Amino acid sequence: MKKIVIFASGSGSNAEKIILHFKNNSQGNVVAVLSNNLHAKVLEKAENNDVPTVIFDKTALSDGTVLSKINEIQPDLIVLAGFLLKFPESIIAAYPNKIVNIHPALLPKYGGKGMYGMHVHKAVLENKETETGISIHYVNEHYDEGGIVFQATANIEKCQTPEEIAEIVHQLEHLHYPSVIEKLITK
Ligand code: GAR
Repeated sequence: MKKIVIFASGSGSNAEKIILHFKNNSQGNVVAVLSNNLHAKVLEKAENNDVPTVIFDKTALSDGTVLSKINEIQPDLIVLAGFLLKFPESIIAAYPNKIVNIHPALLPKYGGKGMYGMHVHKAVLENKETETGISIHYVNEHYDEGGIVFQATANIEKCQTPEEIAEIVHQLEHLHYPSVIEKLITK
């Protein structure tokens, strides 16, 4: 049974889909949800599904405290799902090719520092894009630049607000992220 840990900062709709996907799955299990945000809704979602949670601050992320916690768990895959802090190089170096992130656009477009959540969808709308999508990628030391694992696209010609785009993108994320994770842990 492979061990998955999730890092998330916000509402955690992706985290919840992943937790549910692996609830009765013989391949893997979500063993912990880690968050830098004490008030993040993801914590409730994890607790409701009996997944242990860990809350940490920025200092603990950079000073090795979080790395020690992960080392105790020995995960097979670290999944970022709406995690909004820069992931530290010490963890990336300790877990090469074992950390993935989901980005709500078609990288390399609309990636980089400051490009997260609604900022991405606003930019996509402002540029009058006819399609957007999701990118699941390995995490390296540069924001949104690790190797792409999976992408899916959606037509957004009819969308008039960033919220409408966000909704479509979230649906794509929920549809694909759990199964892409399953493929990664079983390959
Ligand atoms: C997701 O759309 C994810 O792609 C995005 O944050 C949202 C989190 O939603 N991540 C980024 O923008 C990272 N650059 P959720 O908390 O409901 O899963």
